[in-house]
This record gives sequence, C-alpha cells and structure tokens, in this order.
Amino acid sequence: MEDVKFDSTARLAVDYVEGILQPTPTCDTWDQIWNFQARPDDLLISTYPKAGTTWTQEIVDLIQNEGDIDRSQRAPTHKRFPFIEWKIPGVESGLEQANAMPSPRILKTHLPMHLLPPSFLEKNCKIIYVARNPKDSMVSYYHFQRMNKGLPAPGTWEEYFESFLAGNVCWGSWYDHVKGWWDAKDQHRILYLFYEDMKKNPKHEIQKLAEFIGKSLDDKVLDKIVHYSSFDIMKQNPMANYTSIPAEFMNHSISPFMRKGAVGDWKNHFTVAQNERFDEDHEKKMADTTLTSHFRFS
Ligand code: A3P
Repeated sequence: MEDVKFDSTARLAVDYVEGILQPTPTCDTWDQIWNFQARPDDLLISTYPKAGTTWTQEIVDLIQNEGDIDRSQRAPTHKRFPFIEWKIPGVESGLEQANAMPSPRILKTHLPMHLLPPSFLEKNCKIIYVARNPKDSMVSYYHFQRMNKGLPAPGTWEEYFESFLAGNVCWGSWYDHVKGWWDAKDQHRILYLFYEDMKKNPKHEIQKLAEFIGKSLDDKVLDKIVHYSSFDIMKQNPMANYTSIPAEFMNHSISPFMRKGAVGDWKNHFTVAQNERFDEDHEKKMADTTLTSHFRFS
C-alpha cells in the first residue's frame, strides 16, 4: 500500500535560483528566503546534502540539552530544526517554522555560501559547516533521491554520476559548495568540520562543537552524547531517522534514510572507469583550494 502511494505521488519540480538547481517552491519564494531575518543567538548548521546534517543536528541538540535524550526526543528532526529554504506546498515551510520558533533556534540550510541570506552574517551568527568527501556524498545523494519525492528522480547510477559531476543536482556543485564555505570560514564565525573526522573520533569532534557553542561538558556527558548520536542508535530513534515523514514522500523500503553511515561506500558503486574520470575531474576542480588535503581517496 505504502509503495503504491509513493509511486503515485508526484515529485517536486525543479528550477534555478541564481544558476543553482532548487525545488520549484523554493525558487518561487526566493525573495522571502533571501530576506530571512536571523537573530544573533541563532545557530546555523550548513551542509551540502548528505554530509551528515542530521547527525550534526542530533549532536548539537544533545550538547544544548547536556545529553538529556528525553529533551532531544521532543520532536522529529525536521520539526526541531527549521530548514530555512525548504518549502513543500501545503506543509509549514522552513521560514514559517523558524519565524514561529522562540530563541535560541538551531536552523538548517544547504545553501551555498553566496546564497546565504545576508542577515546571518550581519547578525554575526555562529555557523557550523560539515563537509563530506564527494564520492560518498554522491552515493548517499543518489540513494536519497531514489527514496525521496521532494527531489527529482536520480535516473540510473551512470546518469546520476554525470549529473553530480556537472553540479546539475539540487543545491548545485559539491565543489563550489565546500570551497565557498571554506573560503568564508576565516572571516566569519564558522566552525568547519569533516564527516570523516566525526567518524574517526566522534568524542573529539563533539568536544570541538561544544566549545564552539559555548558549553562546557564533563566526560560522562560527552560519552553519553557519543552514544546517543552513534549511527546504530540514531537509526533506531524515530525522532532522528526520518520515519516520521509520511511514506508517500520518503520510502525507506527503497533506501533507508539511515542507510550505511560509513566512509568509503563509494567503492561499492564506482566502476574503475568512473573512478579514474572522477579523480581527474576532482584534481582540476580542487586545484585552486587548500581544502584538497582533506579529501584524499585510498
Ligand atoms: P549514507 O547514505 O552514506 O548512509 P544528511 O543528514 O546530511 O542527509 O546525511 C545523511 C547521511 O549521513 C547518510 O549517509 C546517513 O546514513 C549518515 N548518517 C546519519 N546519521 C549518522 C550517524 N550518526 N553516524 C554516521 N553517519 C550518519
């Protein structure tokens, strides 16, 4: 039954905002999004899609609540953290949610740096940016588009591979995104983190996040946060695994939102030829940034 409903639900159409592909309802309300009024105590979590946004949101919420899991389970992810540019007809938009939310707010965006509503920088808000290596991002995004009617159908893996390299996916090119935010990080209050570091040493990265947020947490609380934000626990947490979204929009039987949560799954998807093509393109696109060293592939 759920599959029938999913199959018959139309996907959101897409259009462009300043050359960046976006769901059409976002394009239609772009002026309002651009004029969004941030508050000085807003904390913004910014990522390219599939970089570990939900994971970071859960960690930040647990930090704010000093490891109190009952507080963090007060509502599903998409209700706790307004996604400022998100709009689906008939559902409360990210802007509406944010405007109705008392401070302090934790907000989410996938916008590239140059499309960030200016008030975030004018109000000097703290911003957490998380980057994930592009090969795993591509694989994760492909599976996400298969199961999510809020985005276009990805096509075949081969087609998707080309769309991703061309930056012809929602929120644009992975390269422009990670580089744009990297270039901005020293001029603004931006903490720039990497998914792979979070996997390798979650406690260390959680400690960094806590310091940035201004929370001093003892070791016991940090360990608790490591535990409750681990992939296996979050996968079982209905307030963090996106199973609260109606099945006609997100079909977890096609691909669960909490899919693998691993580094290196690209090796199970890329052909040898795709990998060579990717590496060559990657080298060119990363030639003008000091970010390169963070994305070495074994
Ligand atoms: P995979 O599809 O590779 O499994 P986002 O929240 O930005 O949409 O990112 C989703 C990706 O982060 C998915 O990647 C998901 O499994 C992974 N993820 C979510 N929670 C995680 C956690 N606690 N630890 C590691 N990865 C996590």
